[in-house]
Amino acid sequence: MKTVNTTIQKDQQLSIHSKIQDLGPWFHNLTLNGIQTAPEHFLGDYPNIKWQHLKTAIPEDLSGKSVLDLGCNAGFYSIELKKRGARRVLAIDSDPAYLAQARFAAEVKEVDIEFEEMSVYDAATLGEKFDIVLFMGVMYHLRYPLLALDTLAEHVVKESFIFQSLTRGSQEISGFDEDYPFSEEAIFTEPSYPAMYFVEKSYAHDPTNWWIPNRACAQAMLRSAGFSIISSPDLDVFVCKLEADRGSHSSFKSVNRP
Ligand SMILES: C[S@@+](CC[C@H](N)C(=O)[O-])C[C@H]1O[C@@H](n2cnc3c(N)ncnc32)[C@H](O)[C@@H]1O
Repeated sequence: MKTVNTTIQKDQQLSIHSKIQDLGPWFHNLTLNGIQTAPEHFLGDYPNIKWQHLKTAIPEDLSGKSVLDLGCNAGFYSIELKKRGARRVLAIDSDPAYLAQARFAAEVKEVDIEFEEMSVYDAATLGEKFDIVLFMGVMYHLRYPLLALDTLAEHVVKESFIFQSLTRGSQEISGFDEDYPFSEEAIFTEPSYPAMYFVEKSYAHDPTNWWIPNRACAQAMLRSAGFSIISSPDLDVFVCKLEADRGSHSSFKSVNRP
């Protein structure tokens, strides 16, 4: 009997291994039935290394909560939050190849997650707000990052927004005045002034990396879209809450002004 079971287990392992190969290359390193999907990841055991910082900033019990994972990739975070008892996890990504990985991973891990092929720009069409919205590792892939942040703040975030972005340049945060005269130029040479690098061609061999903010800029953009930053469990990760009065100071200021 033992030999039969071992043979079945070996067959299962082989079929999972071959499916992982078929669905690759993987950005998320998941462990599926003991087999890693991206053991040679250039960032190490990713995104588990990021999760180790983030996991204590999210409640351990998510019973009754709805979660939206934007740009879910192979679903690492969706799976972790579902394992914490979230009532509903909806995971979206614009890339069908990553969604196929995520569907397979959820099946192997036996977690009930809904997947949808969709761009973050179209999130308003979901017609629903979620208790926890993850927007990890996506903003710098967008040509219109503030459009995305404003759309998410307006249409899908009920309360919690968990954000991560690749950042480059200064990590320093310093205070700046509300306003400066036109003659002021020196602040723009300060490394800690909020700034975002535009990548015209490619960065890290990835032509979908468009905008890379410094840390101050990532924070400023979040505030400008109506989020207040509650904590920063890692230098490039921000746990935010949507401000109740976001319309009064956010992107709408330009249209509201005379
Ligand atoms: C660097 S990965 C981050 C994956 C995951 N959120 C994480 O933090 O590990 C970026 C993901 O965003 C997805 N993506 C890029 N542009 C998108 C868009 N406009 N709408 C939805 N997903 C997008 C990519 O397909 C990819 O899966």
